[in-house]
Amino acid sequence: MNYYITTPLYYVNDEPHIGHVYTTVAADCLARYKRMSGCRTFFLTGTDEHGQKVAEAASKKQCQPQELADRMAAVYSELWSQLEISYDRFFRTTEPEHEKVVQTVFTRLLQQGDIYRGEYQGWYCVHEENYVTPVLENSQRLCPDCRRPVREVAEPSYFFRLSAYQEKVRQHILTYPDFVQPDFRRNEVLSFLSQGLLDLSVTRKNVSWGIPSPTPERYPVYVWFDALLNYLTGVGYLCQEETFTAFWPPSVQLIGKDIIRFHHIIWPAILMTLNLPLPEKIFAHGWWLVNRDKMSKSLGNVVSPRDVLKEYGSSAFRFFLLREVPFGLDGEYSETNFCKRYNSDLANDLGNLVNRTLNLVEKKCGGRIPEGQVEEVNRLTEEVQSLFREKMERLAYSEAIETVWRLVIHLNKFLDEKAPWRYQGEQAGRLLRPVVEGIRRVALFLSPFIPAACRDIYKMLGLQTDPAAGNWKDLFSPLPAGQNLGPRFILFPRRPP
Ligand code: MSP
Repeated sequence: MNYYITTPLYYVNDEPHIGHVYTTVAADCLARYKRMSGCRTFFLTGTDEHGQKVAEAASKKQCQPQELADRMAAVYSELWSQLEISYDRFFRTTEPEHEKVVQTVFTRLLQQGDIYRGEYQGWYCVHEENYVTPVLENSQRLCPDCRRPVREVAEPSYFFRLSAYQEKVRQHILTYPDFVQPDFRRNEVLSFLSQGLLDLSVTRKNVSWGIPSPTPERYPVYVWFDALLNYLTGVGYLCQEETFTAFWPPSVQLIGKDIIRFHHIIWPAILMTLNLPLPEKIFAHGWWLVNRDKMSKSLGNVVSPRDVLKEYGSSAFRFFLLREVPFGLDGEYSETNFCKRYNSDLANDLGNLVNRTLNLVEKKCGGRIPEGQVEEVNRLTEEVQSLFREKMERLAYSEAIETVWRLVIHLNKFLDEKAPWRYQGEQAGRLLRPVVEGIRRVALFLSPFIPAACRDIYKMLGLQTDPAAGNWKDLFSPLPAGQNLGPRFILFPRRPP
């Protein structure tokens, strides 16, 4: 089975923060899980490089928008490599191939009458790159979403006939409950639709940084119209038909809750005009907050992913993001929460289990995997596997980790109760065998979440393979008895709280 998964494209006006990392880590975990389930997977991410916001940021930095885009695309791809993001394609909206696709789609919609020429008169929020109806506060007109002052726009423009798709989009949402996820977001989208849709201005006469529209005036294309089409170009639409045919439509598109309207309303309408099948699921996650405010540059409360990586490494970082908060809800980010989670789950439960078990195998079994029965671990693994997979299919990352923790807790308890340190030779080995085997299975289960740490566990067990390259069937291929352990080290050293 083929599986196509996407993240939003990241604006290149600013440095990434934890909120940006979140969507991509979640998508990566799912992509890895699907690969291990035997799916042929295509995972797309990238950068959103056009538009007024990027042009203004470049001008503040006294450089060309393309220079800024090149610099920030490199920052993102370096960050993704440190975070072990296993994307299949890193897409940039300034790629020539994309310009061709955007212009071809635009031309087709013009010819069909789905795009027409008109006059836009209204308000625009540069930060959200969105046309808005401002709220009036203290005699200032503010964006209803980000509360920044909006700008008045009056210009000739081309419009996408969004209003004509209102009923069709509504019907689709009602017919396919998976399309808007989590469930509790569906009413929000439906209620927005019921207010009535206006046609959408898809060119910006006075913005210079964008793909020229295929119109006599060559007005640049509105950045969101350009960016949404990345999900098509990125998987080969009109360029690599074989890849496109193999993977279209997206199986899952992950987004943050702030960009729901673009993805659950405008995006399906565009696909309907192109007669293309719609994504199966578009899942909106919540925000990372700091003291109850959204983490964002303008509030000055951002945490740099680079700092967290330097301090804790990729595994602890990924683990915290996916374990701490049920996917879909908002979560509070703080160093205290991070450290608590790290010490309790990673240092105490998992790290300690691995360290003490392998120490004992070294001492009691000469550093070789001992002989012994693993029936009880097999039974528990089967139980955990079926729950784990059901939770992963629902994108319930945090619950999936909790399920694996049943195994971690069981193994720690088993050690405490059976006390293999009191025995010698084969007798000690027989008690250690199921624990060592259980640890390997925990590493396999957790590999989509914390790939680097699980690779380390495999190496310490003396295995030459990477669990990420494995398959869930490997859960039941036990370690060969007699195999030497690899070099050992402390996996997650405890941190002062
Ligand atoms: N460029 C658009 C997306 C175009 S996709 C066709 C965009 N970019 S963004 O850089 O502003 O945001 C990218 C993603 O980061 C979005 O899914 C957004 O929800 C997410 N986050 C930004 N701040 C966030 C938090 N504080 N918490 C969680 N996610 C947040 O939107």
